[in-house]
Amino acid sequence: MGLLDALNEGIFRQIHGQNLVYNTCWEDPRCDRQLLQLQPNSRVVMLTSAGCNALDYLLDDPAAVYCVDVNPRQNALLEFKIALLQGSDHATLFQFFGQGRASNAREVFYDGVLPRLSNAFARQWWERFIQAFSGKGLRRSFYWYGSSGVAAWLVQQWLRAHPSAWSAAKRLFAAQDQEEQKHYYDRLEPKFFNPLLSWVLRRHVFQSMLGVPESQQMLAAATYSNGLVGYFTECLRRVLRNLPLQDNYFWKLYFYGHYSTECCPNYLRPEHFDTLRTRSERLSMHTNTLSDFLRQTPGQYSHFVLLDHQDWMAKAPALRPALEEEWRLILENAAPDARVLMRSAARHLDFLPPFVRERVRFDVDAAERVHAQDRVGTYASTWIGQIQA
Ligand SMILES: C[S@@+](CC[C@H](N)C(=O)[O-])C[C@H]1O[C@@H](n2cnc3c(N)ncnc32)[C@H](O)[C@@H]1O
Repeated sequence: MGLLDALNEGIFRQIHGQNLVYNTCWEDPRCDRQLLQLQPNSRVVMLTSAGCNALDYLLDDPAAVYCVDVNPRQNALLEFKIALLQGSDHATLFQFFGQGRASNAREVFYDGVLPRLSNAFARQWWERFIQAFSGKGLRRSFYWYGSSGVAAWLVQQWLRAHPSAWSAAKRLFAAQDQEEQKHYYDRLEPKFFNPLLSWVLRRHVFQSMLGVPESQQMLAAATYSNGLVGYFTECLRRVLRNLPLQDNYFWKLYFYGHYSTECCPNYLRPEHFDTLRTRSERLSMHTNTLSDFLRQTPGQYSHFVLLDHQDWMAKAPALRPALEEEWRLILENAAPDARVLMRSAARHLDFLPPFVRERVRFDVDAAERVHAQDRVGTYASTWIGQIQA
């Protein structure tokens, strides 16, 4: 490994190892659920991220969802959501995770949430982090905290400081139809991808704050001729210009800093509150690598949701054995016809070990159909595979 690679890896490890990175899930569960086809006997293993999608999957009534994340703060975030589901009401849950702030945040935390947190790390970490919900100071929403939240806040500050870009962005996000949306996106794009922001976008530190390590940056940059900037231009054009924004709670969140009651993840909708309160007992959190979880908790799992995390290992030769080991463990612990769902910044999964191609049959048509409707839109491909006996 060269000096620059080692430095870049160190920066990523520093950010990922010391911070909450994702304050919301950055993958579209509406697409996932079409591809996963969860059943009452499904036992899902997934990466936690911010836990929103694990809660979403519960609406399909699976038997169990095992949420695994190597970053304990991500599991602590899901625990907080479950504590509010189980110990408060919909209005309180929506204040915290819909609006990103609650005037009585400390009171609710000490009375209702803290006693429900399962481990010392989560309790201590939240005691320090609870102020993110205070609604005070420069960053008045939880969604401006965590490294991806800080990155989004910085972009928002840049927009606010540039009136013509800010005005185009405001009109874009409020657009009522596709024509209006296209019109304001076309006005915003040249202002946004200016030399300064394009430079920032290419910086390793900024990408690390978004949770994109060097290996994944290399995959994304190789997908388009204009490198990382080309990749993001293409992604934003598709998702902000060509797909309807009205129900896109992912991008609206990072524009406004909060959700609205009409445009939010399913777990924040009042009609799902009682169902999720009951079913949330089927979630379990595990602070571990996926491989160690499967080694320590072997079983017959019906679904594996890998998000885009294999991109993190794809271009790092030193992590090749870890990638192969993870696949061996997935195959060993797969129930008959188990499904694997993953996304990538690459158009093709060239990094899959050959023994995976022999055992996993990917349904390219189904994945492409669903991928075209993806509201996150920052991945080059989505993959659904069925594991053969
Ligand atoms: C891969 S990231 C991607 C985020 C994602 N696109 C989303 O939905 O928000 C998701 C989570 O995976 C975790 N992670 C990455 N590699 C892992 C591994 N080998 N085992 C367990 N968790 C891992 C990270 O800590 C992070 O919280």
